[in-house]
This record gives sequence, structure tokens and C-alpha cells, in this order.
Amino acid sequence: MREINQFKITDAVKESFATEPGSRFEQLLHGLIEHLHDFTRENSLTHAEWMRVLNFLYDCGKISTPERHEFILLSDVLGFSALVDMINTRGGATEGSNLGPFYLDDAPDKALGADLSEGRDGAIVLVHGKVTDTLHKALPGATIDTWQADGSGTYPIQEQEHGQDKMDLRGKFTCDGDGRYYYTTVLPKPYTVPYDGPVGELLRAGNRHAWRAAHLHYIVRAPGMADITTEVFFENTEYLDNDAVFGVRKSLIAKVQPVRKAEQFDYDLSVKPDAVFEFDFVLAPEG
Ligand code: BEZ
Ligand code: FE
Repeated sequence: MREINQFKITDAVKESFATEPGSRFEQLLHGLIEHLHDFTRENSLTHAEWMRVLNFLYDCGKISTPERHEFILLSDVLGFSALVDMINTRGGATEGSNLGPFYLDDAPDKALGADLSEGRDGAIVLVHGKVTDTLHKALPGATIDTWQADGSGTYPIQEQEHGQDKMDLRGKFTCDGDGRYYYTTVLPKPYTVPYDGPVGELLRAGNRHAWRAAHLHYIVRAPGMADITTEVFFENTEYLDNDAVFGVRKSLIAKVQPVRKAEQFDYDLSVKPDAVFEFDFVLAPEG
């Protein structure tokens, strides 16, 4: 009979799995077991604390639906999602940031110059820029998939029972021959992540708010290049320093400039903007 105690149990658990030696699965599983056991020993976890953790995870599962993934939200507020984004940003490429829960992969194609605001309240902003590789070479034909909240901080997908179309305020653009993209939209406002569930309880227990800095979401793709999923933020707006999901990076912030009287744009726009926001995306080769 082998002797098992609070120190030997870690190896015993690792050895109980017949994983392929040297495999990625083995590396991750062993690492998880080691960190979990170290955490438990270092903090002399009580039964009550152990049960609190398990009940918290149970509650996260219970409130989750196909539309609401409480574990992703948990990952977001713990900075786990942001850390994975940071680790996976390629050298020289635009930094990655939160995908969030409101992405739809079948957003409609839109022509360059289109207006996404469709008469919504708020400042109309021309959003434009170019997509290049890390050597600043334009990537004609790159695609920009974007989605965003409205001028009151709500995503149309959250308001379907109030007659909003979930495909509003989103679209896929194909860049022109110079790698440029341009469209008009309404300037989004900050909004809160869902805080009526266990993750909200965690935020309240830690005296944290649930607000996200206002942002535009993007997935940018080009043939032969690694996709980027990111968000861009507006200079001098609220929550840049304390975004609830740690999505803000300095390199992802740019200024919204008011349009000067009689200012002309090189673009064919369907709506006249009040302001301009410019952001260039850089993609690194895939592989
Ligand atoms: C979002 O950016 O859309 C988002 C991110 C995390 C949680 C909730 C919303
Ligand atoms: Fe968002």
C-alpha cells in the first residue's frame, strides 16, 4: 500500500492519468494539477471555502444558456481572456482584444462608405483607416468584420424583443485596392457586462464595477495573414483605465476628431459625419 499525504498526492494524481508523454495535453493537465494543489496547500483551504468555489462554478453553469456563457464572462473579469489575447498577439501586429459575446459570424456584407447607424441617435462618425502587413504594405481585399453598441450603450442583439434587428450595427467590409476601409456609424457609449449572475456577485464582493469602455469590435482577415480579433477605443473616454474585462491597450486607443466646417473627404459616403476616427490595422503572416 503506497503512502499518500498532502505532498505526495500531487504526483499521485498526475500519474493516475495515462497521458502521452511529452504531449501538450499532458503539459497542460499536469500544470493545472500542480497549480491547483499548490494554491490549496499555500492557502490551507477550508472545507467551506472549497465548497464555495464549487458552488460558484455550479451557479455559473446553471445560469449559462446558448446566449449567455457565464464562464467566458468569468474568464473576462479575471483577466484570463485578456492574458490569452496578449500572449497570442504576433510581433508587429495590432494587439488582440476581447471577442465578447455579441459576435455573429453571418453579419451582412456592406459596401465601403455605407452607414451602419441607420438614423440612430448619437454622433455620426466616419471610421476609416487601412490594413497593412507588418512592413506597412497595403493588403487590398482584406476584410473587416465589425460590430458595436449604439449611442446608448446597447447592442441591437440585446433588444430583439423590442423590435431591433440583431444584424444592425454590424457588417463586413472588403478593403479597396489600397487596403483602405471606410464607413459611417454612430459613436457607441460605454455599457455594463451582465452582472445579474454569479460573476456580478463576484464583482460586487470585490467592490468592482461592471462597465466597459466604449469600443468598436473588429475581426480583420486577409489571405495568407493571421486573423486578428480586437477592439478599438476612444481617447479621453470613461473606463479606459478600469475596463471591467481588461480589454483596453494603449495601442488600441485613438482620437475622435470633430469634422471641420466644409471638410471634404476622399470617400463616397452616404451620410455626412460629425466626427472622424482613424485606425490602421496591421496583420502578421500566418503560420
Ligand atoms: C463586449 O465587449 O461586447 C463584452 C465583453 C465581455 C463581456 C460582455 C460584453
Ligand atoms: Fe463590446
